[in-house]
Amino acid sequence: MTRQLFVTTALPYANAAFHIGHMMEYIQADIWVRFQRMQNDGGAQRVVHFVGADDTHGTPIMIAAEKEGVTPQEFVARIAAGRAQYLDGFHIAFDNWYSTDSPENVDLSQGIYRRLRDAGLIYTKTVDRFYDTAKGMFLADRNIKGECPVCHAKDQYGDNCEVCGAAYQPTELINPYSVFTGSTPILKPSEQYFFKLSDPRCFQFLKQWLNTPGRLQPEMVNKVSEWLGEDGEKLADWDISRDAPYFGIPIPDAPGKFFYVWLDAPVGYLASLKNYFEKKGIDYDAFLNDPATEQVHFIGKDIVSFHLLFWPAMLEFSGHPVIDKLKVNVHGHLTVNNEKMSKSRGTGISPLRYLELGMNPEWLRYYLAFKLNSKVEDLDFTGEDFVARVNSDLIGKYVNIASRCAGFIAKKFDGKLASGLSDQAREWIARAMNGEHGERQASIAASFEAREFGKAIREIMEVADVANRYVDENKPWILAKDESKTAELHDVCTTALVLFRQLTIMLSPVLPHVAARVREFLGDAAYSWEDTQGERVHTAVLGRTINAYSHLMQRVDAKMIDDLFDKPAQPAAPAAAPAVAAPSAAAPADAAASDVEELAPEISIDDFTRIDLRVARIVHCEHVEGSSKLLRLTLDVGEGRHRNVFSGIKSAYQPEQLIGKLTVMVANLAPRKMKFGVSEGMVLCASAKDEKANPGLYLLEPVSGAQPGMRIR
Ligand code: 2FM
Ligand code: ZN
Repeated sequence: MTRQLFVTTALPYANAAFHIGHMMEYIQADIWVRFQRMQNDGGAQRVVHFVGADDTHGTPIMIAAEKEGVTPQEFVARIAAGRAQYLDGFHIAFDNWYSTDSPENVDLSQGIYRRLRDAGLIYTKTVDRFYDTAKGMFLADRNIKGECPVCHAKDQYGDNCEVCGAAYQPTELINPYSVFTGSTPILKPSEQYFFKLSDPRCFQFLKQWLNTPGRLQPEMVNKVSEWLGEDGEKLADWDISRDAPYFGIPIPDAPGKFFYVWLDAPVGYLASLKNYFEKKGIDYDAFLNDPATEQVHFIGKDIVSFHLLFWPAMLEFSGHPVIDKLKVNVHGHLTVNNEKMSKSRGTGISPLRYLELGMNPEWLRYYLAFKLNSKVEDLDFTGEDFVARVNSDLIGKYVNIASRCAGFIAKKFDGKLASGLSDQAREWIARAMNGEHGERQASIAASFEAREFGKAIREIMEVADVANRYVDENKPWILAKDESKTAELHDVCTTALVLFRQLTIMLSPVLPHVAARVREFLGDAAYSWEDTQGERVHTAVLGRTINAYSHLMQRVDAKMIDDLFDKPAQPAAPAAAPAVAAPSAAAPADAAASDVEELAPEISIDDFTRIDLRVARIVHCEHVEGSSKLLRLTLDVGEGRHRNVFSGIKSAYQPEQLIGKLTVMVANLAPRKMKFGVSEGMVLCASAKDEKANPGLYLLEPVSGAQPGMRIR
C-alpha cells in the first residue's frame, strides 16, 4: 500500500531556547520518520515530509520583545536563529523549519476562518474580558493566573491547568491576578469572536473522529470522550479573538481584533508544509487531496485539549482534506529521577550543555528510544541508568561485535569478506534474525511502526545477544592463532559483521550518524528495511572488500553526568536557626542512643496490614492562610483524582521544595475535618524523640522508580 506521510510535532513558543523536553518529542518523531523513510512503497522509498515551525504569536512574546526594546518580529527571528544548533546537534532531520508569523499562515488561517464563518460556526458576542488598569491593556490568558476551577491547583494560567489538564476561560479562574502588576484585573466589555464548538455538528463529528480505530491512543479516546460528555453537553464555545495590542493575525472584517494564538498555531503545520513545497516545487493541494496522504502528529499530554477538540473541528468544518487521515500521538513528560525537572533543585538538563560537554547525541537518542513506548506515560531520565544502558547496550553489545572481528578481516584477508558462509554460520544468522518463530524483523518493524521503541530496542538487543554468543563460542582470537583455521576465522568474522550490519540497519532510525559511519566502513549505500529480509541479509555483503574500521562510539564517562545538571540553588540559611548543634559523626554511641525513642508495643502483621501506606506524588503544595504550622498538599495516589492533605511540616519545608516529590502517605485514614478544610490522609515524616531539642522533620521519600499508588508492604 502506498503511503505519503506528513509528520509534525508541537510548535515551540518562540520566546525561549529549546529545553530537553522539546528534544525528547523531536527525537521521538525523528526516529519514527527515519524508520518510515526506510520503507518502500511500490518499489520506491516512502514519501515522508517532516516539518516544524516556531509558534510566534501571542502576548508573552509581544511583552518579551517590548522588554528588549525590539519588534516582535526581530525577537522571534533571534530565537529562530538559535534552533539549528539543537536540531542539527541531536540529528533531528526536519525538512523545513518555518514560522507561524508568515504569509502562508496568514492566508491559511484567514481562509479556515472564512470557511468556518460560511459554515455558520462563528458568531460574535460582547463579553467581559480581564483588563489590567495599571498596564492599560486587556490581559491575555497567559497574563492571568489564579486557582484552577476544576482541581483548585493554585497559580494556573487563564487557558488551561497544567496540573489536571482542564481547559477553561480565564474568567473561570478563582482569585485571578495580573502577572504584570499582581493587581486584580477588572472586567471590561469587549466584542469577541467565537467558534461554535457547542454546535451538534461538532459533537457528531468529534465523536466519530476520535473513535476511528488507530487514530488516538485508547487513554486519549477515554479522556476526550469525557470532555465531550454523553451528548456534547460539555462542549463550550471557544473565544478565538484577542483585542489589540496583540502580536497575531488580524481577523478578516474585524478591525482591531486578532486570532487568539491557539487558532493560528496548529495551522502553522500546514503553513510550514506549504512553504516547503513552494521551495521544492511540490503541488500542495494535490498532496493534501491525495488519498494516500496521512498526517501523523506528535504532542505532549499538556496540550491535548487544543489538539483533540478545537483543531480537528476547525479542520473538518473548513473542509481540510486530511482530517480523516490525521493521527495524533500523545507522549508523557520527561522527568529526572522521577521528579519534574527543576533548575533550582539541580535536576534541569540543558540540551546545549549536553552537547558542549562532548556527550554523544546518539547516546541520548538511544536512551530515550529505550524508554519510549506508545502510551501517554512520563519517561524518566536517571543518570546512572543512562550510563549503564548506553555502556552496556551500545558499547558492550553492539559496537563490541565489530571491534572484536573487523581487525581480523583487515589483517588476515586484505579487508575482503568471505564469499560464502558455512551452514553453521547461516544457522546462527537465521537464529539471530528470525528468533524462535521466524518473525523477529517483522516484530521489530511493527514495534517501530507502533512507536513501541523500547520494545523494538529490546528485540534488537536480543539479536545482539545472539551475535555476541556466536563470537564468544567461536572465539576468532583463538582461531587467528592457528593457520589451519583460517577459513573458519574468515567464516566467523564475516558472519559477525553480517550480524553487526543487520543490527546497524535496525538501529539506524535511532543512531543515524553511527549508521552512516558503518555504511562507509562496509561500503554500503543507504539502508532500507528490506535489507533485513531473506537472502539480502548476507548476499548483499559477501565477497565485498570493506574499509578500515575505526572505533564507532566511546563509553559514557559517568563523571559527565555530574556536569550535565543545572547547579542546585543553595538553600537560604534559615532566618532563626534553632540552637541545636549538628550531630557529629564522632558522637559517642550512648549519646546517640539516648535520643532514640523507645519502641512501641509489638504488633502482628495483620495489625500492620490494616494500615494502607501508599506512594504519593506531591503535585502541589502551598501555605495555609492563617496557619503557622500547616502546609496544604495536593497528592496524586494513582487514583485518577487528587487528595487534599494538611501536614504540620511548615517549619521544615518551603512548598516549592516539595512540589513534584514522591512521598508516603496513610491512604486509608478516615478523612478529618479541620479548620482549613478536609484532610484526606496523612503523609509520613521522621522526627527525633525530643522534637523541641531537635526540631528537624524529614518527609519520607521512596527511592527513585516508585510510582504513585504503589503500596508499601
Ligand atoms: O505549548 C506549546 O509550546 C505551544 N507553543 C504548542 C503549539 S502546538 C501548535 F498548535 F502549534
Ligand atoms: Zn486543574
